[in-house]
Amino acid sequence: MESVKQLKTYMEDNHFDLHELSNELNEWKNSLIIYNFALDEINTKLKILNEEFQFIHNHNPIEHIKSRIKDPRGIMQKLHRKGHALTIENAKKYIHDIAGVRITCSFISDIYEIYNIIEKQDDIKVLQVKDYLKNPKPNGYKSLHLIISIPVFLSTGMQEVCVEIQIRTIAMDFWASLEHKIYYKFDKDVPGHLLNELKEAADAAHELDVKMKKIKDRVDIFQTVGKHQTLI
Ligand code: GTP
Ligand code: MG
Repeated sequence: MESVKQLKTYMEDNHFDLHELSNELNEWKNSLIIYNFALDEINTKLKILNEEFQFIHNHNPIEHIKSRIKDPRGIMQKLHRKGHALTIENAKKYIHDIAGVRITCSFISDIYEIYNIIEKQDDIKVLQVKDYLKNPKPNGYKSLHLIISIPVFLSTGMQEVCVEIQIRTIAMDFWASLEHKIYYKFDKDVPGHLLNELKEAADAAHELDVKMKKIKDRVDIFQTVGKHQTLI
């Protein structure tokens, strides 16, 4: 209750017009709907690939897929952080992760397989690739990040919409989700000993990725050569 009073006082002191503010928020929401459509387009593409791999091939590089839209508050915070005025035009121009998709795979090789498939699709333009597998972040973070654009067809015509795609293994995802929680628990100032332990955990996750791939390759050979051969 107290905070509502404070907010009212703040708004009166700063000549805020509640009606104008709510109109503006609605305008943001309406302008951002295009990102939902872009996610629908990319999710359909990934669903087709997932089902194709499931039914036709003997290995599916896609383990699971998650997608999300950044809320207007998060977009405004990021614009502010980057030093841009809080306008919808600036959001579309400077914030490339309003629509985000995360694809989790079993093996490192799956990451590049998915990348190659996405890159070959004629309607998708790859605008940026950040390979944190070849160049991990100092904290140990690994993932392949793509910024792509995808066409969305509206009644008024076609619009190219940016989507951020992150592709990583289950082990990388396990590490990143814990690291993310720790990062925010310590308000972005993680104690040194925990940073060291997180780096060690990232190395262990990488070892696991390598080991699992070796096992899988041996099983693949076993399947090709025949069940009567000894597994080397
Ligand atoms: P921002 O989106 O402003 O961070 O721009 P950027 O150029 O730093 O993008 P980058 O591709 O490095 O990171 C984009 C996203 O990747 C973040 O929003 C996170 O979801 C993820 N990410 C990047 N670095 C880390 C990290 O160190 N730990 C974790 N857990 N996630 C990360
Ligand atoms: Mg970042």
